[in-house]
Amino acid sequence: MIGTGYVGLVTGTCFADIGNKVYCVDNDKSKISKLNSGKSTIYEPGLDEIILKNYNAKRLIFTSNLSLAVKNSDIIFICVGTPNKKGTQTVDLHYVFKAIKEVVKFSKNKKILITKSTVPVGTANEIEKILKNMKKKNFDVVSNPEFLREGEAIRDFKYPDRIIVGSNNNRTFKIMERLYQPLINKGAMFFKTSRRSAELIKYASNAFLATKITFINELANLCEKANINIEDVSLGMGSDVRIGSRFLRPGPAYGGSCFPKDTKGLISTGDKFNVNLSIVKTVVKSNQNRVHLHVKRIDKIIGKNFKNKKITFLGVTFKPNTDDMRDSTSLKMIPYVSKKEANVFYYDPTGEKKEFKNIRNCKFSKDIKIACKNADLIILHTEWEEFKSLDFQKLTKNKGVKIYDLRNLYTFSDMLRKKIKYYSIGRPNAN
Ligand SMILES: NC(=O)c1ccc[n+]([C@@H]2O[C@H](COP(=O)([O-])OP(=O)(O)OC[C@H]3O[C@@H](n4cnc5c(N)ncnc54)[C@H](O)[C@@H]3O)[C@@H](O)[C@H]2O)c1
Repeated sequence: MIGTGYVGLVTGTCFADIGNKVYCVDNDKSKISKLNSGKSTIYEPGLDEIILKNYNAKRLIFTSNLSLAVKNSDIIFICVGTPNKKGTQTVDLHYVFKAIKEVVKFSKNKKILITKSTVPVGTANEIEKILKNMKKKNFDVVSNPEFLREGEAIRDFKYPDRIIVGSNNNRTFKIMERLYQPLINKGAMFFKTSRRSAELIKYASNAFLATKITFINELANLCEKANINIEDVSLGMGSDVRIGSRFLRPGPAYGGSCFPKDTKGLISTGDKFNVNLSIVKTVVKSNQNRVHLHVKRIDKIIGKNFKNKKITFLGVTFKPNTDDMRDSTSLKMIPYVSKKEANVFYYDPTGEKKEFKNIRNCKFSKDIKIACKNADLIILHTEWEEFKSLDFQKLTKNKGVKIYDLRNLYTFSDMLRKKIKYYSIGRPNAN
């Protein structure tokens, strides 16, 4: 595995757990030394135990020695980041190409070279050009995109709905099928396709899910105005098997390390082929506007004067069960209220975040009671299990505390009984 981040670490560990010998390489030496000292570099439920088990069994090796890893491997997965180029929607492939150039330098015999990173249509062809220029013939380039979700990554590896493999070589399909056989035996679909299809399937899947979220978020806006409960609408819609109930829960703008960049990446692929992907463009725009809608709601809740108001965020990651902060809405909301001179506190089960270190009046507390004490407003930002049955008045010791529930964890009637001013998403009285 070249790149030992969220994808490389989980996938590498899980491949080791089904009996393979895996080298996890990263050029960030601090990550490798942390992993070699027995500590995981990410928060992912259940991962630490599987790392330890396979590390002790010597099936899982963490190293920065690329030459050693490449020499000993038959199959190489590229798992490096593919962000957008700064200020554009195009995908920055320089980490992928750099990793490939480094890998092939050390390779003598035939190997399978796989992009597990999310890469746009045509990347496999680009890689082949690089190999040709470097006069390297011993590689078979494959696309095998990853679909794991942070927070449920181990389950997603072990029980995937489908395994997508794009190749133009029958022998390679057979090797890939053998590699994934333990998962296929448990019911995963093994789908052989072209490399270009495999590349597009990943972007299409993420853009479709982002569209579903955005659709329900916009409907939630309508429900607030039209005195309707969005949850009834989601349930009624989602029980149609053609639609499905997943990804129909309204909330803040979608975030995380994939949807924001992959929707944009797909638009740029459309542009490259002169195809106007107007739906995806609208989704991106709607999602960007959503953050403004939420901060406007905070303005309405707090009123004109934010000075000395204590605002507490419960959860700041983009979703629960991960420590990933990439493109989380809290990155926009916290600086906004801090600029208005509120006293901002936050609590997150995965600890303090470097992203907020330089934000004025913003403090982390590892004790939820301290974070909430005397709060004027609590913003339920991420739906961690531990936030689902809180006694807000006891927690804050403030009878006038207001709650802004971005995840609809509580009900309006519950809060009314407790005389707490409560705001949520897409429900009657949501304003
Ligand atoms: N995070 C997810 O949930 C997820 C899910 C599916 C697909 N993906 C895709 O997988 C890819 C990786 O995502 P991630 O979240 O794991 O990224 P990440 O930033 O967590 O990890 C990338 C790692 O690669 C390392 N790296 C970069 N260049 C290297 C090189 N030349 N040699 C060795 N190591 C190098 C970095 O130090 C980093 O540790 C992206 O394309 C992403 O879109 C991510």
